[in-house]
Amino acid sequence: AKKPVRVTVTGAAGQIGYAMLYRIASGAMLGPDQPVILQMLELPLEKPQQALKGCMMELEDCAFPLLADMVGTGDPKVAFKDADYALLVGARPRGPGMERKDLLSANAQIFTEQGKAMNEVASRDIRVIVVGNPANTNCYIAMKSAPDLPKANFTSMMRLDHNRAVYHLAAKVGKTVNDVEKMVVWGNHSPTMYPDIRFATIAGQPASKLVDEAWYRNEYIPMIGKRGATVIEARGLSSAASAANAAITHMRDWALGTNGKWVTMGLPSDGSYGIPEDILYGVPVTCTPGKYERVKGLEIDAFSREKMDATLKELLEEQAAVKDLVG
Ligand code: NAI
Repeated sequence: AKKPVRVTVTGAAGQIGYAMLYRIASGAMLGPDQPVILQMLELPLEKPQQALKGCMMELEDCAFPLLADMVGTGDPKVAFKDADYALLVGARPRGPGMERKDLLSANAQIFTEQGKAMNEVASRDIRVIVVGNPANTNCYIAMKSAPDLPKANFTSMMRLDHNRAVYHLAAKVGKTVNDVEKMVVWGNHSPTMYPDIRFATIAGQPASKLVDEAWYRNEYIPMIGKRGATVIEARGLSSAASAANAAITHMRDWALGTNGKWVTMGLPSDGSYGIPEDILYGVPVTCTPGKYERVKGLEIDAFSREKMDATLKELLEEQAAVKDLVG
């Protein structure tokens, strides 16, 4: 049998955490032959710790064959100890009257502390996905706070945006998600993201020839950008099952490979596509087990450049707002 790997989940007792833990423990993330040790972090306060205990009782009661052990804690240094994978979900939500700047700095503190903890105690190969918003900038902060770990191992979640883009494109032409290849979502996880269908195919046909350009520009792009808000309006709560699913499939693809299929990940930029180095930015990748590779050399036309620069501008503003807090 394989040696168990350590998987850290932060914000484990929250909505997304609750939709995520049981699937990780069942093998949905790392495969049906990979035992896992879950290391769960929650705020060191009575209520969240109590809720976490409840989640752990349910993990026990699932009797998952692949769940080798588990730890629940309020201490990042315990949660990240020797961790091979980390899903950083817990974040500070925007409270009433809270300005964007305050939100960014509250989160900067959390992700600085967690980055430092990973730097100190995690496996040197730890693979990280940041889900908690603002996810790209939080990931940038964690990466900068962990200078001894490879930058390339820090990623932010763009997969929910990618999955939304795939589904709604397929649905428009009466096909299924299985028919869609080569979707790209550039930029920030925010309404400024740019779902780019120029390379996409649907059942082998170029997507741009199958859908109307006015529909694509005026309806589809804003619909994908606002999908999160649309779900909140309907459900009264933000996307949780689909967010957990996106994080799990992001990590599964990274660990096990995509067989040539393109997926979108937020990666620290290597300077390609005119994105300044280190900015966490959604780009297309393919994965072989344990490794992602950027899809390089795609042509960027004038419309795309404008969209890609707009979402970059927002990321640069977020980065500027936390500049003094990043060590
Ligand atoms: P939630 O509020 O239900 O759960 C968050 C949990 O994190 C809470 O249990 C809270 O106690 C915990 N937490 C807060 N600060 C913490 C810290 N410093 N250490 C450990 N735990 C901490 O929220 P939900 O719905 O689970 O969402 C979590 C985050 O994911 C939010 O920031 C949300 O905006 C973001 N999100 C990101 C998406 C993406 O595509 N990147 C999609 C959907 C949500």
